[in-house]
Formats: sequence, C-alpha cells, structure tokens
Amino acid sequence: MYELLKQEGRAKRGVFHTVHGDIQTPVFMNVGTVAAIKGAVSTEDLEQIKCQVELSNTYHLHVRTGDKLIREVGGLHKFMSWNRPILTDSGGFQVFSLAGLRKIKEEGVYFHSHIDGAKIFMGPEESMQIQSNLGSTIAMAFDECPPALAERKYVEDSVARTTRWLERCKNEMQRLNGLEDTVNRHQMLFGINQGAIYTDIRIDHAKRISELDLDGYAVGGLAVGETHEEMYHVLDETVPYLPVNKPIYLMGVGTPANILEGVERGIDFFDCVYPSRNGRHGHVYTNQGKINLFNQKYEKDMRPIEEGCGCPTCRRYSRAYIRHLLKAKEMLGMRLCVLHNLYFYNTMMEEIRDALDAGNFASYKEEKLYSMGQINR
Ligand code: GUN
Ligand code: ZN
Repeated sequence: MYELLKQEGRAKRGVFHTVHGDIQTPVFMNVGTVAAIKGAVSTEDLEQIKCQVELSNTYHLHVRTGDKLIREVGGLHKFMSWNRPILTDSGGFQVFSLAGLRKIKEEGVYFHSHIDGAKIFMGPEESMQIQSNLGSTIAMAFDECPPALAERKYVEDSVARTTRWLERCKNEMQRLNGLEDTVNRHQMLFGINQGAIYTDIRIDHAKRISELDLDGYAVGGLAVGETHEEMYHVLDETVPYLPVNKPIYLMGVGTPANILEGVERGIDFFDCVYPSRNGRHGHVYTNQGKINLFNQKYEKDMRPIEEGCGCPTCRRYSRAYIRHLLKAKEMLGMRLCVLHNLYFYNTMMEEIRDALDAGNFASYKEEKLYSMGQINR
C-alpha cells in the first residue's frame, strides 16, 4: 500500500508498505541481476550502503540455477539472506536485449538461452510463475520493450499485445497468490507503460492500465536510444495519466541528473546499472562530478574519493590506494568503487527525500546539478 506523504509540484514523497518492510520514496533500487550486485558486493554490504530495495532478474535466475531450485530452498529472500524488499523484472526486457533468435507471438516469446542456447518459451503466465517461485516482494508485468526508433504501426501493435499480456499477468498472479504453498502470497504486481516516444500511444496506454488497479506502475521503454529531452517530454506527457496514489517506477534510469529530472516529474522508483558498472571501471561519483581513478593525477592523492562521505570506502581508503588496486587488477579496487557509488546514489535519494520533506526540492535540485557541473549559472 502506497501513502503519498507530500507533493512539491509533481514531485512525490511517499512510503510504500510491503510484507518485507517499508520503502521510503523516491528510492533507488540497487541492481543485483543474478541475486548479487556485480563487484563482489555482499548482502551485508547492502545494509551498510543504505540500500532499501534489491532488484533481480527473472530471466537470469530462470536460465541459471533456476527458479524451481530457489523456490525449493525457500525463495530468493532466504537464498540470498536479504529480508528487505526485492523487485524482480519480468524477463521481457532481458529476453529482447540478451537472448538470441527470439520470436514474438501472441502467447509469448520463444528464444534461446544466452548461457547454453537451450530453447525456452516465456509468456505472461510463465513470467508470473517464475517470479512467484522466487517470491519477490514486487513482480513486474511481462512486456515488450519496442526499440526507441520503432515505427508507429509496430509500436501500436506491440503496446496492444503488452496490454493483453498485462491482463493475463494479473489473473495469473491472483491465482498464484491464492495457492497455499506459494512462497510469498502477498506478492505485488506493477504494470508497465510502453509506447516509445509516441506520447498519444503512451497516454492511451497509461489510462488503460490505470483501470486495472495494480499495486504500482512503471514507465518502460525509455533510456533505449532516445535523447534525454525526448525522455523528459514523454514523462511530462504520460505520468499525469498514471495514478498519483500509486508508486511510479522509471525503469533503467539513470544518471544523477536523470533521477533529479524524474523526481520532478513524479517518479518514485529508479534503478540503473551505472553506479555499479562505472564503479567497476574506476569511475566514481562526487558532488563535483564523476572522476576517473585511473587518472595519473590521483597517484599520490591521499584524500578519500569524497571528503566527508560516510561510505565504507571513504571512511578508510584513499584515492591513491584505490587507484593502485585498480591498476593491479585487484578485485578489492572494483569493490571499493562500487560501494562508494551505490552509497552516493542512495545518499542522493535520502537528500531528495529530506528536501521534499522540507519543501525545498526545487532549490536542492538546482544546487546539486550546479555542483556536479551539469548546469551553468
Ligand atoms: N528495464 C528497462 N526498461 C525496461 C522495460 O521497458 N521493460 C522491462 N520489463 N524492463 C525494463
Ligand atoms: Zn564514499
């Protein structure tokens, strides 16, 4: 159940109550595709870096290890020893971006596993069954994410099918939650808005899926090749047609600036691989912008990545030492960078919530963008 605590313009400050605890929004979800954050980050670390929600992928856990095994050992929470909320993505998007030789039909998608080439079928019912086996807190609807530059006719047909799939997802989840031996009988379902950059299609779809009274709604199909301005325009036009009393999730986004712009447009949930991926490459976030620790100028720099940062990395280690670890290809170098970056993202979300509570989000956003070198004054 979502409680809208406060609004500043369209920006929302809320709390989402789940069986695995409350989620304060706006929130960043930390991406652990295969039930692990890449960069040797443990579940214990997640607690240290203020992670509220962990995100895993249906597709990856289905093709390796398997959701049936995870169900047998008690579900994903028990398996990875994390008792706070987990959101699982439905597999739709990953099938389109990873699997080979896929065929989309009304019933679902036929594809080959990127691990061993095995033939697999996944439709709305299969996606719900897998997510139910995992027992995640929030399951995502099975959708098609059309390419940003897809033609209008293709997008219309695709979105119509995604809507029919959503109805099937809802029915299947209701059935699964009604079974006595289901891992998490309180599993929630979020629908996903699509429509590429055609705002009229997006709006019609948003109205249509809002009628289904789901637990939350996502805006999908963005950050897939369109410009930032196009993405902001889609949000400006579409978000007002999604229910304000439900959490809204912008999938796969983004940079700190994208997140600030998203919050301003009414987004509650975000997720992105940038902080972990950049960290693994020695690119770390500071309030003065991103820096590359491979740069020679950090060779003897004994300051932490960010002065005053409370993350496990900055409380103890210097830029010079981390640079040395990265150059020596020691795993610890990556790990320290990823921990700092995730802490940076989660802390920014905390600052955003504090600013919304105090009613000064607009000036917080301006200051943050300015200090990070994103805008001039
Ligand atoms: N992750 C990023 N974008 C999308 C999307 O459009 N659909 C799904 N299911 N996951 C995503
Ligand atoms: Zn730090």
